[in-house]
Amino acid sequence: MKEYIINGGQPLDGALEIKGAKNSILPLMAASILTDEITVLHNCPNISDVDSMINILEGLGSKIIRSGRDVIIDNSMTDKSEIPASLAKELRSSVFLLGSLLSRHKKAKVAYPGGCDIGLRPIDIHITGLRELGIEIQEQGGYILCNCLNAKSADIVLDLPSVGATENLMLASVFIKGKTVIRNCAKEPEIVDLQKFLNTMGAKIRGAGSSVIVVEGVDKLHGIEYTPIPDRIVAGTYLIAAAMCGGNVELSGVNPEHISSLISKLSKTTCKVHIKNDRILIRSKGRQKSLECIETMYYPGFPTDLQSQIMAMQTVSRGTSVIVENIFETRFKTASQLKKLGADITIKGRVAVIRGVKELIGAEVAASDLRGGASLVLAGLVAKGTSIVKDIHYIDRGYEDLSVELQKLGANVRRT
Ligand code: UD1
Repeated sequence: MKEYIINGGQPLDGALEIKGAKNSILPLMAASILTDEITVLHNCPNISDVDSMINILEGLGSKIIRSGRDVIIDNSMTDKSEIPASLAKELRSSVFLLGSLLSRHKKAKVAYPGGCDIGLRPIDIHITGLRELGIEIQEQGGYILCNCLNAKSADIVLDLPSVGATENLMLASVFIKGKTVIRNCAKEPEIVDLQKFLNTMGAKIRGAGSSVIVVEGVDKLHGIEYTPIPDRIVAGTYLIAAAMCGGNVELSGVNPEHISSLISKLSKTTCKVHIKNDRILIRSKGRQKSLECIETMYYPGFPTDLQSQIMAMQTVSRGTSVIVENIFETRFKTASQLKKLGADITIKGRVAVIRGVKELIGAEVAASDLRGGASLVLAGLVAKGTSIVKDIHYIDRGYEDLSVELQKLGANVRRT
């Protein structure tokens, strides 16, 4: 079992370059099977979720080469439309393949998805939307079986703006004749990126970034080379780390607009944040005044994927803060681990009250999901003494070489 050993207390100084966004790359990889031609994705991080998606696509018959930061996908031989449980359980994003497989093969058999345990994570909105497109769906023995012999365009209203359901329905409707309208859809930057990617391949989609997306069916898509948007959550994690630890950190290759909700929170602390084009420079003296209230929301609100990291920051801030988690119901699991380091946190349902303590004390803790795991590393960076973070395979899902990146900033972290 791999773990991080952290000796806390160092300020962070230095520069990092942010790579492509996991939450864009995974649906773009799923979308690649909509063409027989070659797709090249640039600036892809080395993270295990990308490896899992490669395994799934190879299981479908795709040929994939990884060359440096490029992922080269050849789907000319992709002939299977089934994703077995052994592969689907590795990755929740395997559910995006439902839409892609239906578009390519007119049928799909996909085991229920896996991913981090951060709540119920149902897929009812995906299923309802696909049924409205005339797709026949049966749920049998842990599998979702679909065929789309009678697929038709539709006007679909999502019960809530699910990112995955919006992406799945865009992928499922690309080749359906006529105009499909998806209302109350998610507005996340990754949705805009998927629209841009598909349109570059020859699709006709508009509206991404607003709450209504219109997909006009086309006959064929072609291969492309594409650079996905930078990872706003990874960038946000390093900004929070710098705010907590103190120091001067510059991030490049970022889209600051994508993390404006975090920058707005940081501007209420004593940190100084400077933005210049795709660069963000943060200067911090360390321990901050508590942020009074943080509520996670759909984009452009504060992202649930940065909630655990901002909680870690609040544990050592001056004063009391309240975090309301509106997206995933069990995303406060990490609080019990932060408490082992001396944090003072009370949880009641979807609300966490954090009374900042003067210092955390190093201890052994374990990650139970990707972002929660990252927050434990951040807490370890400010804790007095040595912390050990176990089960870091969760962190590897979405952060490339977290310890190496933090070492570049002068942190005392090593992976064993
Ligand atoms: C995506 C992101 C994840 C992020 C989340 C919210 C990827 C690979 N993952 O996950 O990192 O935390 O968006 O920004 O892009 N829901 C239903 N029924 C459904 C679908 C969703 O009730 O059919 C609920 C979920 O339980 C959750 C909320 O909708 O409470 C948001 O989920 P959703 O936007 O679908 O998240 P994901 O696409 O799974």
